[in-house]
Amino acid sequence: MKEKLREIREEAVKRLEQVKTSQELEELRVKYLGKKGALTAILKQMGALPADERPKMGQLANEVRSAIESKIAEARGEIEALAMEQRLKKEALDITVPGKEHDMGHQHPMYIALEEIKEIFIGMGFTVLDGPEIELASYNFDKLNAGEGHPSRDWSDTFYFDSDSRVMLRSQTSPMQVRAMETMPLPIRIIAPGRVYRKDEVDATHSPMFHQVEGMVIDKNVTMADLKGTLNTVVEQLYGKGTKTRFRPHHFPFTEPSCEMDVQCHKCGGVGCPTCKGEGWIELLGAGMIHPKVLEMSGIDPNVYSGWAFGIGLERTAMRRFKIADLRLIFENDVRFLEQF
Ligand code: PHE
Repeated sequence: MKEKLREIREEAVKRLEQVKTSQELEELRVKYLGKKGALTAILKQMGALPADERPKMGQLANEVRSAIESKIAEARGEIEALAMEQRLKKEALDITVPGKEHDMGHQHPMYIALEEIKEIFIGMGFTVLDGPEIELASYNFDKLNAGEGHPSRDWSDTFYFDSDSRVMLRSQTSPMQVRAMETMPLPIRIIAPGRVYRKDEVDATHSPMFHQVEGMVIDKNVTMADLKGTLNTVVEQLYGKGTKTRFRPHHFPFTEPSCEMDVQCHKCGGVGCPTCKGEGWIELLGAGMIHPKVLEMSGIDPNVYSGWAFGIGLERTAMRRFKIADLRLIFENDVRFLEQF
């Protein structure tokens, strides 16, 4: 029996030293120490021994059991340490791996142009206003001296929401003149950028949705000279010193006198080329002295106050500023185009 116990001990220790997984370990534990295990089988035979040998043999069996138990504990520690080591290896962050590059977006070229325009006007003491794109026809037309029957109110020119033509997508930013006059204390100096809508076919210079920046000044003794001086200053800041402008007579219902302002073609310097359609000049904006009736309708006395207003096309400004040939590029949002600015 003594011999048998020594064999069990030796065999168990040897096998436990080679054990690799916790499953193997458990199998060995059951094999040697379990209820049907090798050691238990020996202990069961103790009853057959002469009484004086039993204590000695019992002591020996206990020694073998505790030797195996401590070997099991040791093996379990090793297996756990190994598993932990492998897990740490797997989960470790490699801080030397190069990071993923994130592309930073940037402003759309038209908004770059808008920011420049805003900067220039803010520098001259103007306030920037925001207004509704869904507008009342009374603001878009009536209060701007374009009453019933005015051609610009035609259904083929304008997007209406209702059959009695009261609510519409604004066709110009000029209703912001009225909104400013009705709500702001005098004197007034504002610009109001935003989207406008007209039933235009899409081509290289037209879109049914485009952007304008409205500008307006109302004060005592404001004249056409102030309008020209201001716009010339803006154009020089936007397009560079010495950029030439010209003012042509025009008609708008809400300004009198009215004009359009052209800038000399940046491509040909005024000689005439495809960009300016041979004209040498490119139309940039409409402007004029605010019609006395318009002032009056918004409760401002035209005998005391006068003012001017202009409306500039933002896409055209950006196209000239960045030498973009086709308006459609501005709205297509092709990153290959946008990345160039
Ligand atoms: N609203 C006019 C247009 O869309 C432009 C304009 C604005 C003209 C202000 C005069 C004064 O064509």
